[in-house]
Amino acid sequence: MSGRITGASERGIGKAARETKAMPSAPAQRASAVPNDLEAYWLPFTPNRAFKAAPRLIARAKDMHYYTPDGRAVLDGTAGMWCTNAGHNRDPIVAAIRAEAAELDYAPAFQFAHPKAFELASRVAALAPGDLDHVFFCNSGSEAVDTALKIALAYHNVRGEGARTRLIGRERGYHGVGFGGISVGGIVNNRKFFGALLAGVDHLPATYSREHQAFSKGEPDWGAQLADELERIVTLHDASTIAAVIVEPMAGSTGVLPAPKGYLPRLRAICDKHGILLVFDEVITGFGRLGHAFAAERYGVVPDMITFAKGITSGSVPMGGVIVRKGIYDAFMRGPAHVVELFHGYTYSAHPLACAAGLATLDLYREEGIFERAQKLEPIWAEAAMGLKGLHNVLDIRCVGLTAGIDLASRPGEVGKRAYDAMDQAFHVENLVIRATGETIALTPPLIVSEREIEDIFGKVARLIKAVA
Ligand SMILES: Cc1ncc(COP(=O)(O)O)c(C=O)c1O
Repeated sequence: MSGRITGASERGIGKAARETKAMPSAPAQRASAVPNDLEAYWLPFTPNRAFKAAPRLIARAKDMHYYTPDGRAVLDGTAGMWCTNAGHNRDPIVAAIRAEAAELDYAPAFQFAHPKAFELASRVAALAPGDLDHVFFCNSGSEAVDTALKIALAYHNVRGEGARTRLIGRERGYHGVGFGGISVGGIVNNRKFFGALLAGVDHLPATYSREHQAFSKGEPDWGAQLADELERIVTLHDASTIAAVIVEPMAGSTGVLPAPKGYLPRLRAICDKHGILLVFDEVITGFGRLGHAFAAERYGVVPDMITFAKGITSGSVPMGGVIVRKGIYDAFMRGPAHVVELFHGYTYSAHPLACAAGLATLDLYREEGIFERAQKLEPIWAEAAMGLKGLHNVLDIRCVGLTAGIDLASRPGEVGKRAYDAMDQAFHVENLVIRATGETIALTPPLIVSEREIEDIFGKVARLIKAVA
């Protein structure tokens, strides 16, 4: 191991590794709670050199808190990455995973199945609005998005409308990191390094305008007309070439951009008019984040497909999926009964541990009324978020459900650095996890957050904003 640390040192990061090795550990701690060497792990969506110079390490978690390897409690202001909606390491979920691991480690996902996959599909379908009643499982939000896009293309194909191949996303949209997801997504850095992407993709304009929407609580009044841009795209390409439109009901990853009032129903109406499928990417908004099982319910719109992940297992085991309307599923159920209807799936689709975790999580959401709780807390949360208005460098605050995005002014020539510093100091100094996305601080706590913890989160964030002024 010393050889590897020397190697790391040559590349200028050995110091951090050595310091981490020397990190004091609590007496009862297992050795694995502290890493041996920081070099080999290439962290995703992370500036690796900065991280390895001052690692933000988390060793365990319970309810609203993380604990560092040396035992410091850190309040979770982001529900992991918008996923631990029921809180961390909840006993019934842990017990369900343990029991399933002892009962069934794996069953083939193709041509075979296990009972909990059906049970979970039924439970998810029951939570979804309208006739969204069939569920295709995968392992992440990215896979869910690519699955939905493929289902859309194949759906039109099996119905004899194979010319409908265009996919429409939105600027500032995030749909994961598969080639489908980055193609319909609208984040420059996620796209520009990766070649030509999918052909035949177009984008709606982003729904955010600071000029018209600054400091809106919930859905902004301005912006429904931006849905009409879909008509322009249809005029350009012709409806007969367009398969689907995919949007997040609230764009999370680019800084909490709630849909303007009336925007989503308008998008639905235009899609209906032209036979275009509407996909809601609810990887973040699903399972209570906006006070309902799905944001579709909040907005009274039934999309043709909903993608989900994250909250389905409260982050405990990777799982994602797509809920489709009955008509889409039925369109595939034709031809000889022994022939596969959709040539798509994953080895770990509906993995037994994920299904067990999902069922226990849905039980917890229901038993503790967690979605309703989020709805009740929303005005308190919004009030607390807006309390930051007027602090130096705060350009805008947005919130919907239990989410908030706080835009900070950039330092000259250092876009993103102020929010990054706030995130870093939050962890090391304020004992709080926040998220920095560009120059926006994003807050999305577990939905079990208490009023006192809400106060605590925003008190800490106020201090951080002053600290990075
Ligand atoms: C709306 C949306 N879609 C897709 C994804 C991708 O999910 P994953 O990281 O599980 O692949 C995310 C992740 O944050 C997301 O917010």
